[in-house]
Amino acid sequence: MGRYDLALIGFGGVNRALAELMSRNGDRLAEELGFALRVVAITDLRAGSLVDTDGIDLAPLLAAEPGELSFAGLAGGSADPRNEWVIREVPADIVVEATFTNPTDGEPALSHVRWALESGKHVCTTNKGPVALAGRALKRLAAERGVGFEFEGSVLSGTPVLRTAERMFGGLEITGVQGILNGTSNYVLGRLEEGVELSAAIAEAQELGYAEADPTADIEGHDVQLKVMILANEILGADLRREDVFCEGISSLSPHEVRDAVSKGLRWKLVGSATRHEDGGVDARVTPLALPAHHPLAGICGPVNGVAFHTDLLGTVTISGPGAGRTETAYALLSDITAIHQRHADDDSAPTRLAVKETHRV
Ligand code: HSE
Repeated sequence: MGRYDLALIGFGGVNRALAELMSRNGDRLAEELGFALRVVAITDLRAGSLVDTDGIDLAPLLAAEPGELSFAGLAGGSADPRNEWVIREVPADIVVEATFTNPTDGEPALSHVRWALESGKHVCTTNKGPVALAGRALKRLAAERGVGFEFEGSVLSGTPVLRTAERMFGGLEITGVQGILNGTSNYVLGRLEEGVELSAAIAEAQELGYAEADPTADIEGHDVQLKVMILANEILGADLRREDVFCEGISSLSPHEVRDAVSKGLRWKLVGSATRHEDGGVDARVTPLALPAHHPLAGICGPVNGVAFHTDLLGTVTISGPGAGRTETAYALLSDITAIHQRHADDDSAPTRLAVKETHRV
C-alpha cells in the first residue's frame, strides 16, 4: 500500500479537522482508498497551536522517525519565509494549504501554492484566492511539473460541485450556473425574514462559525465574487478577472423589504451567476435577487449553499449542501488527496524527494 507524506500549511480549524478525520478513520481510509497518510510538517501562525491539538491524537499520523517532522511557527498575513522553507524543502508528497486568502491579491495562500508546485509537490487548497485570481497560471505550472493541483473546497466546501460539473462534461453542455455560494449571507437573509436585526443576525453567523472574522466579504458579496469566478473559469471555460464580475451584496436590502417579500411568495437570496453567450463570452455577476418559490435555489435556507447548473440536455440540475464548516471543508481536502492519488498514483514523473536540510521546532 502506498503512503503520502503531508505538509499541513496552516493548523487552524480546517487542517485540524483533517487531522482528526485521518486520526479517527485512518485504518478505514487506508482500506477503502488504498493509501495511508502521514504528516511530516505542520506550520501555523500561532506557535502554541502546534502543541494544543484540541484533544486530537496526532500520534498515529506523525512521522515515526525522530527529526522527520518539521514545524514552522508562522503562516502570517504575508508570505512568510519559514513557510517557504517548509513548503520547498521538507520532503512531503502533498502540500495541504489551509491558511487564508486576501480577496484582492490571494496572499499568503497564493505564494504557498506556487512554492509547492514550483518544488514539484502536489497541492490541495481550500482557499479561493489562488484559484480565482491565478487558477490558469497555477494549473499550467502544475501540468509542467507533472503534479496535481486540487481545490474542491474553494467552492461549497465539501459539497462536490466542481467534480460534479467535471463529470457532467462529455456530450452535455453547461450553459450557465447560478448559486447561493455564501452561507453567512444566506443565514442572515433567513434571520431577517424572521424579524431579526441585521447586526444581530451577522453576530449570530459569526458565533456559529459561518462568517469570516471580518464579515464584510460575506455581506458585501466579495466572497461570492471569487467563487463565481472559479465556477465561470472552471466550468464555463472563462478567464474572468475580479473587475469583470459585477458585485452587489445584501447590505442594500432593508429588513422590511426582505420580510415583505415572503408574503408575496418571494425569497431574497444573494445569487452569484455566470452565463455563456452564443459568441462564447461569459457574463458573471453577484446580486441579491427576489426568487419565486419554484426557483431551484429558493428553498435553500440557512448556512446551506447550492448551485443550479443550466444544461442543454438535462435542463437545470441542482446540487446543494454545506458551504462552510471545518469538518465539511476538511472532507474536501480528503477528496482532493484521493483525486491526486487516482490521477497520479502510477505517474512515473512523481516528485523526487529532497533531503531535509534543517528542522524548525517551536
Ligand atoms: N464565510 C464563508 C461563508 C465561508 O459564509 O460561506 C466559506 O467560504
